[in-house]
Amino acid sequence: MSHFRPVELGHASRLLNHGPTVLVTSAHGAHTNVMAAAWSMPVEFTPPRISIVIDKHTFTRELVAASGAFGVCLPGAGLVDLTYAVGQVSGRKVDKLARHGIRTRRGPVLGVPLIEEGCAGWLECRLLPEKHTEDAYDTCFAEVVAAAADARIFAGGHWTFRDDNTALQTIHHLGGGNFVRAGGVLRASALP
Ligand SMILES: Cc1cc2nc3c(=O)[nH]c(=O)nc-3n(C[C@H](O)[C@H](O)[C@H](O)COP(=O)(O)O)c2cc1C
Repeated sequence: MSHFRPVELGHASRLLNHGPTVLVTSAHGAHTNVMAAAWSMPVEFTPPRISIVIDKHTFTRELVAASGAFGVCLPGAGLVDLTYAVGQVSGRKVDKLARHGIRTRRGPVLGVPLIEEGCAGWLECRLLPEKHTEDAYDTCFAEVVAAAADARIFAGGHWTFRDDNTALQTIHHLGGGNFVRAGGVLRASALP
């Protein structure tokens, strides 16, 4: 049974707000692909827009430019090895989804491949045409057209990190294959 539930678009920014390393999914023609990305962030609330760095030399970038769409999936800590692995080899050389047995579902709006198993959430994104991106930059801008999350860790627009959902807690790349798992929650109190 899937624990994924739709996330209101007004809350989509909260999925990326704390800077998780993500899996960028893409498809065009006969090709489907996935890569790791540590650099992404929300940039606007309404409509929800994000920026994400997708190196122009990657296969992902080629598929995203051709299809105008991509998915941003949030791997839980249980997918740390997979996340690192798909960030080390290009989909031009190997079908990473097939090699690692990664199952996808189609996004509700654009039909992009999205990973739910082992992920805390996903955002389905439409690439925004941007001259600087097309000409030179690796930074891409996109509108979030749908989002969903596993209700065991994100519900009602809020994350809940508990001892019983550590495998779904997001991961954050420190470099060189080292990650820190989210979960050391600190509640800010009002200063006197
Ligand atoms: C943890 C991690 C984070 C990464 N973050 C980014 C990123 O933010 N942007 C980027 O363009 N590449 C990033 N990469 C590198 C890509 O994932 C890598 O180039 C990948 O092989 C591209 O795959 P593709 O050619 O199949 O699209 C990262 C790699 C790892 C392991």
